[in-house]
Amino acid sequence: MQQGKNIFLIGFMGAGKSTIARELAQSHGMRLIEMDEQIEAQERMPIAKIFETHGEPYFRQLETALLERLRPEDNTVVSCGGGVPMRACNVEAMRKSGRIVYLSAQPETIYERVRHTHTRPLLEGNMNVAYIAALLEERLPKYKAAADLTVCTDGRSAGEICEEILAAGRL
Ligand code: S3P
Repeated sequence: MQQGKNIFLIGFMGAGKSTIARELAQSHGMRLIEMDEQIEAQERMPIAKIFETHGEPYFRQLETALLERLRPEDNTVVSCGGGVPMRACNVEAMRKSGRIVYLSAQPETIYERVRHTHTRPLLEGNMNVAYIAALLEERLPKYKAAADLTVCTDGRSAGEICEEILAAGRL
């Protein structure tokens, strides 16, 4: 049951969460939270450095704490880190304060979008379609189970994707 107006964009790295979140927030006068950026600002170091210094579990705790601070009335679009829906408590926190949109993409699409980046510790040394496909397959059941709505992003513009999210209503 949807209890708030926040919108949580979930999906694999490179699914387009940041771009779509920015557009939705702008066109609807909503606040924007980019989880990775907020955590980096709070910790005063890049995600890769947080992983290196404190380990992944510490980073996952920061994600959970951030989600639990959100309230149903916050009127915010949240671009979630790709690993957020892997924890049941995160999904529960998102459900309590808004609805969850899964942005899907094929491994080849993801690879093309992330191949020249170096900001994601999980992909360093693993920057290939096979690794992305395997991790995506492992995560897919949780992405799907968390989603109120799934929107495919392959070969589509940000405008088209936003329109589909809007057409699904209740924004
Ligand atoms: C992660 C995704 C990243 C970032 C971190 C871990 C993941 O965010 O939170 O590198 O586990 O999929 P994006 O999905 O915004 O790239």
